[in-house]
Amino acid sequence: MKEAMVQIQGLDFCYQKEKPLFRETRAEFYGGQITGIVGLSGCGKSTLLRLINGNLSMEKWPDVSGQILIEGKNRETWNQDELIQKMGTVYQDPDCQILFSHVEDEWVFGMENYQLTAEVMEERMTAVCDLLQIHHLRYRNPNHLSGGEKQLVILASIYCLEAEILILDECMAQVDPDGRQLIGEALQKLRDAGKTLIMVEHEEKNLQIADRIYRVINQKLIEEVISG
Ligand SMILES: Nc1ncnc2c1ncn2[C@@H]1O[C@H](COP(=O)(O)OP(=O)(O)OP(=O)(O)O)[C@@H](O)[C@H]1O
Ligand SMILES: [Mg+2]
Repeated sequence: MKEAMVQIQGLDFCYQKEKPLFRETRAEFYGGQITGIVGLSGCGKSTLLRLINGNLSMEKWPDVSGQILIEGKNRETWNQDELIQKMGTVYQDPDCQILFSHVEDEWVFGMENYQLTAEVMEERMTAVCDLLQIHHLRYRNPNHLSGGEKQLVILASIYCLEAEILILDECMAQVDPDGRQLIGEALQKLRDAGKTLIMVEHEEKNLQIADRIYRVINQKLIEEVISG
């Protein structure tokens, strides 16, 4: 079996000693798979995603132990700029993540930080429009798009940066069933393109597209047996 893109090993985490969120837990997330995470509200799902994407630094908390490995290497020892490029996060509310009033400007803005030529930017935007079948969104104003379409714009923006790990914190929560269908199809295409998708959802039906599912039970990530 190939090496996991993201591994969590022996993780203990709490914000306050009396309320541990994770105890001696482990998990693996692979390229070319959608891995879902479910669990009760407040069990620590968003915290786990923030530990993976680095929004929450393990080093800053006194009672934390274990490690998170990215491609087999401790995340703390990575060049942080490289890691930032490797991961993209999508949150519940697309309006918090979209800055521009033109979809293409949104995509170009992210890529401009990486000194790419205009030709490379164009290639990537065309590639993602082909992959996700969203040429019709490219010249639109994101403010006039549906919630699902906005999430596609954000996913495309992450794809343009060539992020390999997509961290999805309830990215379907604020959209209607049509939007969820759109996002689900896009996520499957990204999975088939080899990306590592880590997907937290409240509604288990949104995880029907997942290849593997972890449930947070008693401060541990327990892998569910998916039938069928
Ligand atoms: N920065 C922080 N400092 C202290 N406690 C925090 C902090 N961030 C989150 N918490 C607490 O940690 C617990 C887990 O929060 P988290 O947001 O990870 O849960 P969640 O599983 O994502 O919940 P939900 O399903 O409602 O989104 C909650 O009790 C929350 O109040
Ligand atoms: Mg959460």
